[in-house]
Amino acid sequence: MTARLSFTKLSRSFAESRDERAVLEDIELVLEPGSFTALVGPSGSGKSTLLHIAAGLDTGFDGQFRLDPPQATLAYMFQQPRLLPWKNARDNVALVLEVRGVPRAQAAEQASEILRRVGLGTALDVLPQQLSGGMQQRVALARALVIEPDVLLMDEPFSALDELTAAHLRRELLDLWIETKRTVLMVTHNIGEACELADRILVLSNRPGRVIADFKVDLPRPRRRSDPGLGRLSEQVLAAVEPSLAAPVRSNAA
Ligand SMILES: Nc1ncnc2c1ncn2[C@@H]1O[C@H](COP(=O)(O)OP(=O)(O)O)[C@@H](O)[C@H]1O
Ligand SMILES: [Mg+2]
Repeated sequence: MTARLSFTKLSRSFAESRDERAVLEDIELVLEPGSFTALVGPSGSGKSTLLHIAAGLDTGFDGQFRLDPPQATLAYMFQQPRLLPWKNARDNVALVLEVRGVPRAQAAEQASEILRRVGLGTALDVLPQQLSGGMQQRVALARALVIEPDVLLMDEPFSALDELTAAHLRRELLDLWIETKRTVLMVTHNIGEACELADRILVLSNRPGRVIADFKVDLPRPRRRSDPGLGRLSEQVLAAVEPSLAAPVRSNAA
């Protein structure tokens, strides 16, 4: 199963001491089943808020959010791995299956399998504190994927990692996504990452966040950062996010 996310006339404000502050305004969006969408925008533009709403963690909005079908399963991946420090890698992953009623032995087997897929086959029994940041985030990716979610929500999942580790994890995520085509919504402030992975890039404005640009990306995969098409796209996205930083358009006419 794969799921559709729809936001209709959706706005979100938070009560401040004196007035209400709008954080998201008039969001009108449909994320198609099996699509990979990256969400970029300035800090404070409501990106995490939008993910919380998609995850059902925040219901205090105006307008409508729909998950279709409603029983679709979701997984959430954060910037930090948020592992239980007293459980080894396998048990951290197995736990999310056990709470869903999967028998212990089977949960451990499935956890081991997905950890092998993300390159952690030799670290199953290792506690988080003994794993590098990149390995911990791999465990978090495995934990998100082990339930085979219909929707994968990610909030800057690779931004705390060194670039080489992040590059490996992006590739692993992409391989797994190509296999299963779950609906992915990923917040990132890394425009290169958005261009490399996503087939749609949404740009939010400064607060209150509105969708100010919507790029369809149909470059073939796997994409290389050196591809000219990717470079052009990055410039366009950057110009939408922060016009003052985009390269001036130069003419090569004589
Ligand atoms: N629970 C909350 N209560 C009050 N203000 C909040 C809450 N959650 C987010 N905000 C405010 O909403 C704005 C957008 O937050 P957020 O969605 O985290 O932005 P982003 O992820 O784009 O940086 C911020 O100014 C933040 O302080
Ligand atoms: Mg955020």
